[in-house]
Amino acid sequence: MTVDLVVVGCGGHGREVVTIVRAVNEAAGRPVWRLRGVVDDRPGEVNLKRLQRLDVPFLGGVDHLRDAPPDVHHVIGIGDPRVRRAVGRRLDAYATPAASLVHPDATIGPDTRYGPGFVAFAGARVTTNVVIGRHVHLNQNAAVGHDSTLADYVSVNPLAAVSGDCHLAEGVLIGTTAAVLQGLRVGRDSTVGAGACVVRDVPDQVVVKGVPAR
Ligand SMILES: CC(C)(COP(=O)(O)OP(=O)(O)OC[C@H]1O[C@@H](n2cnc3c(N)ncnc32)[C@H](O)[C@@H]1OP(=O)(O)O)[C@@H](O)C(=O)NCCC(=O)NCCS
Repeated sequence: MTVDLVVVGCGGHGREVVTIVRAVNEAAGRPVWRLRGVVDDRPGEVNLKRLQRLDVPFLGGVDHLRDAPPDVHHVIGIGDPRVRRAVGRRLDAYATPAASLVHPDATIGPDTRYGPGFVAFAGARVTTNVVIGRHVHLNQNAAVGHDSTLADYVSVNPLAAVSGDCHLAEGVLIGTTAAVLQGLRVGRDSTVGAGACVVRDVPDQVVVKGVPAR
């Protein structure tokens, strides 16, 4: 069965999501997803041109999905977890269901669950007994260890490593190449800067950076 899909966001992250859709179809040897196009409320001229070069139609603003039939799925291609959450809440009011995408070069281990809207980019690694919420994005080569929990709207950026038994609360951003040591909790809407090493729990709504992160 082929399912209609709309990507939300025509920035770099959204266009990377487009490439994942294509990779999934290619690996399956059949059109798992029929990409109808991309929506964006404020598309920049440059990004519209880039989208055109990918040969993907631009469909208009996010409200394009308001009247879409319930068999048209969406996936949010926005890297910032809090912007993704704001858009996700809007979309929750519409009939369109969220699709999950796992790049064929990502590995999702056994006894792992993920919610709708989950996107695993190429090289993302999830081991075992990991619980992943809605609209979580694991960017390229991000690693998530055993027994961890990633709540809704978490982003783990490229090459970041979340060790075993960690808890990332809703809306957390783990910056590129950062590490979170085992057993730690990162609080709601907090940001771990690129290259940081988290060695103790991080409270809600703070930015930590550096080694050790503070
Ligand atoms: C940590 C972070 C959130 C800070 O953002 P910000 O609050 O806008 O910070 P600023 O750019 O104003 O910088 C403030 C200070 O922190 C320093 N700083 C910024 N990011 C840093 C980082 N990752 N590690 C260490 N220091 C950092 C700046 O050099 C500056 O220092 P100064 O005050 O001595 O000049 C951001 O820099 C970051 O690392 N975000 C993650 C980015 C990422 O993962 N991108 C990949 C996208 S796929």
